[in-house]
Amino acid sequence: MLVLGIESSCDETSVAIVRDGKEVLANVINSQIKIHEKFGGVVPEVASRHHVYQISMVFEEAFKVANVKPMDIDLVAVTEGPGLIGSLLVGVNAAKTFSLMYNKPIIGVHHLAGHIYANAIEHEMKFPLVALLVSGGNTELIVMKEHFNFEIVGQTLDDAVGEAYDKVARVVGLPYPGGPHVDRLAHLGNDTYHLPRVYLDDGSYNFSFSGLKSAVINLAHNLKQRNEEVNVNDLCCSFQDSVTEVLVRKTISLAKQRNINNIIVAGGVSANKGLKERFIKEGDGFNISIPSIKYCTDNAAMIAVAGYYQYKTNPTLSDLSMNASASLDLVSE
Ligand code: KG4
Repeated sequence: MLVLGIESSCDETSVAIVRDGKEVLANVINSQIKIHEKFGGVVPEVASRHHVYQISMVFEEAFKVANVKPMDIDLVAVTEGPGLIGSLLVGVNAAKTFSLMYNKPIIGVHHLAGHIYANAIEHEMKFPLVALLVSGGNTELIVMKEHFNFEIVGQTLDDAVGEAYDKVARVVGLPYPGGPHVDRLAHLGNDTYHLPRVYLDDGSYNFSFSGLKSAVINLAHNLKQRNEEVNVNDLCCSFQDSVTEVLVRKTISLAKQRNINNIIVAGGVSANKGLKERFIKEGDGFNISIPSIKYCTDNAAMIAVAGYYQYKTNPTLSDLSMNASASLDLVSE
């Protein structure tokens, strides 16, 4: 089964062609990072205009790389939400146009399901599993007993991890998106600032990162007022140690509590080397899966794979009345 995947929920225009939920024939990604860098974050209006400009070229490139024809496609899978509404609409309308032109079935995919199913490209997803989903907009702990069965057990009460990374990077003068820069510098420093670890003492699997973010901001301001230099490498290391300790320990604690052996990590922050190293160090005995970096951040291959499994689990198709949704729940009530 050949699935065409389309992703445009934020600042990446991506089109992929994937065979049988596994074999990635093409995964073309046009990133707008350079465009938004000067603003210090994604500007929604600029993002949607750029998607309009790029989408046809990214389509053409994907078919060229995969060496297949539009008529060969069996299913069109598109991110229908959540995300920036103007950006999502470009992908959804491109998908509907393709579906209409070539008379192909279409299925709307949840962006977070896409991130989770990035793990099915290089590994086999074994159930039950605990998924730690960490991105620019989300931080969630999810239990899956089978394909497309999501139980959200914990989530952030304030900032998402990626958001905290990007804000901390900004405070110490690193470019957007800050996560990869903080990760790189963290490996050059030491945990000398001993920032707080926020576990929440309510027995839940929720997270909170706004206090940690404020601790970094206050520390940087206090040092500046005293005319002292911030050791950026040490601050990045201290921040990363605090974040990864909480993420890894809470994930493992949930897996132990539910007697689950399989752990997967998903979303842009799953590209973080410190997180991977800590999972390897502390996750002894668990079967831990983290996608390669190219499948961690937004891409259409993960949407094609999620679309494939969604269709296999429940072959309910969308139709041309499908609309983009900025705030779509992963679990329907
Ligand atoms: O999943 P993603 O591409 O987009 C969303 O759906 O949010 O995630 C983007 C986020 C950004 O906040 C970025 O700073 C973060 O992922 N990120 C990282 C790393 N690579 C990307 N954060 C920490 N360490 C990294 N290596």
